[in-house]
Amino acid sequence: RMSTMELRDGTQGGTRPVKHFYDPSNPDIRRNPYPIYEHIRTREPVHYNPILQAWMVFGYEQAQAMLKNSNASSRRAELLAKKVPAAVRDKAKTFTQTANDMLLFLDPPEHRRKRHLTARPFSMRMVRRLEPTIRDMVDKALKRIADQGRFDMVHDLALPLPLGVIGAMLGVPESDRHTLKTFSEAMSLMVNHPKPSAEMVVQGSEGMEALFAYFRDLIAERRRQPQSDLISEWIKVEEQGDLLSAQEVLVNGCLLLFAGHETTTNLLGTGLYNLLRHGEQLQRLREEPNLIESAVEEMLRFESPVQMVTRIARADFVASGKQINRGDPIFVVLGSANRDRRHFNDPERFDITRRDSRHLAFGYGEHFCLGSGLARLEAKIVFEQLLEFFPSLSLAADQMEWKPDIMNRGLLSLPIAFETH
Ligand code: HEM
Repeated sequence: RMSTMELRDGTQGGTRPVKHFYDPSNPDIRRNPYPIYEHIRTREPVHYNPILQAWMVFGYEQAQAMLKNSNASSRRAELLAKKVPAAVRDKAKTFTQTANDMLLFLDPPEHRRKRHLTARPFSMRMVRRLEPTIRDMVDKALKRIADQGRFDMVHDLALPLPLGVIGAMLGVPESDRHTLKTFSEAMSLMVNHPKPSAEMVVQGSEGMEALFAYFRDLIAERRRQPQSDLISEWIKVEEQGDLLSAQEVLVNGCLLLFAGHETTTNLLGTGLYNLLRHGEQLQRLREEPNLIESAVEEMLRFESPVQMVTRIARADFVASGKQINRGDPIFVVLGSANRDRRHFNDPERFDITRRDSRHLAFGYGEHFCLGSGLARLEAKIVFEQLLEFFPSLSLAADQMEWKPDIMNRGLLSLPIAFETH
C-alpha cells in the first residue's frame, strides 16, 4: 500500500480526486502542513478550497506562473476589509485605506513607480552599513542569555532582533522600540488571522493609528534635522520633487515593520529548530562555517516563513485548466511550491549543502521581497555567532508549539539548552 501511495504522490498533473482538504483550523495541519500540501499538489496543483473559498496554488511551476500573471492582482485590500466583522468595520477604516497605499497591495504601473522610489535608499550599501550594528545587537543578546542561564530562541533573540534592526534602519531611537513592537503585533494579529474578532480589529486599528502618530512625529523631527536613516532618505526623495508623498513615507515605515519583522523572527526560530532536529547538518555547519549562506537558503526553502501570499482575480482567466472568476481570492502556497519534487531533488530532506535551490520564499516577480538582503544578512550573523558562542546547543522540549496562523509559519517559543566555552 505504502509503495502505491508513494508512486501516486510522485505522479503530477492531477487527474485523481483530492480526498483530503486543506483545513486551516485543523491543528494537525497547522503543526505539519506538508503532507496535505503534497497530497493536493500531486493531484491538482491549482485547486479550489471550499473552506477558505479561495483558489490555492500548490505547485512550483504554477506558483511562478500565477505570480507573473497580471490577472492575479495584488489589490487585495478589500479582501482584508471583508474579514472584518461588520460591527467594527468603521474602526478598521484607517487600516483598509492605508493598505491601499502599501507597495504590497498595489499593481503596476503604480506599484513600479512606488517600489523604485522606496527601494532606492534601501540598497545593499545601506544593508551592509548595518552589519556592525547587527553584530553588536546579537553579541549583546548572547551575553545576556549566557548570564541568565536560560535561553528561549524566540523570545530572547528571534523576536527582539529584527525589530531592533528595522528600528535602527528607520531611525527609531532604542528607547521607543518596545512601543513599536506592541503596535505592530496588534496590527499583524488582525491582518493575519483568518477570522479576526471585533476585539482584535479594534486593537489592531488602534495599534496602527498609534504607529502613524509616532511616525508622523519622527518624520517631522527628521525633516528639521536629517540623519543617516531611511526615514531621512525617503524625505529627501519626497523633497526632491514630491515623488514620494508625505503619506507614502508614513506608510512605508509601517510597511517595513509589518513585512520585515515577524517574517525574520520566524526564519530565525524555525531555522534553529531545523538545525537542531537534523543534528548531522548542524555538525556539518560547525565543521564548514562557509556553508552558512546555503544553510540559510535551505532554512528558507524548507520552512518558508511566508507560507502563502494572496492575490485576487481581476478578470476571468484559466490557470492549469481551472476557470478562475473575477473577484476570486487566490492563495499562492510558497511553502508547498518549495517542497515540489518536480523542482527540488528530495525536497523533504533538510540539506544545507543544496545548490541553486531557487526557492520562492521571498516571492517571485514584481513584488519580490525588498528586504531579502537584510533578512539573509541577519540570519547569517545570528547563526554564525550563535554557533561560535555556544559549543553545544540542543532542544530543551519535545513538542514545539506552532503559531495559529496559516500565512506565517513560526514557533511560539523554542527553549534551548546550551553550554558556554
Ligand atoms: C515582500 C518574504 C523579510 C520588506 C515580500 C514577499 C514575500 C516576503 C514572500 C512578497 C509578497 C507578495 O508577493 O505578495 C519575506 C521573508 C522575510 C522577509 C520570508 C524574512 C525571512 C523582509 C524584511 C523587510 C521586508 C526584513 C524589510 C525590512 C518587504 C517589502 C515587501 C516584501 C517592503 C513588498 C515588496 C513589494 O510589494 O514590491 N517579502 N520577507 N521583508 N518584503 Fe519581505
